Amino acid sequence: MTAKSPLPFETMVFVCTHQRAPGERTACANAGREGQEIVERLRKMVLDKGLAGKVRICKSGCMDRCEEGPNVVVTRANGQTDYFSNASLKNIKNICEVFVKDS
Ligand code: FES
Repeated sequence: MTAKSPLPFETMVFVCTHQRAPGERTACANAGREGQEIVERLRKMVLDKGLAGKVRICKSGCMDRCEEGPNVVVTRANGQTDYFSNASLKNIKNICEVFVKDS
């Protein structure tokens, strides 16, 4: 039986890193998209800002919004959740600002 528990971190960030074979529907971590690189960059940002233990960057599976990806969900212990689409290494500073502001 599962037990409902509070979020284990102040903020949890879920980045879609789903991949598909060439010729299939596009995916957030396919060639030319940056799902995996976004995870790595956000993890570095968390470490650089001293937020390890408060902010957790997680890989996620497909959110069924593949064409607008890479997609990122930021959810916080206070219940607030934000969804970011079309994420890239060039614009993830906006995502980082959300969890830095709240921590
Ligand atoms: S592959 Fe990322 S939302 Fe579907």
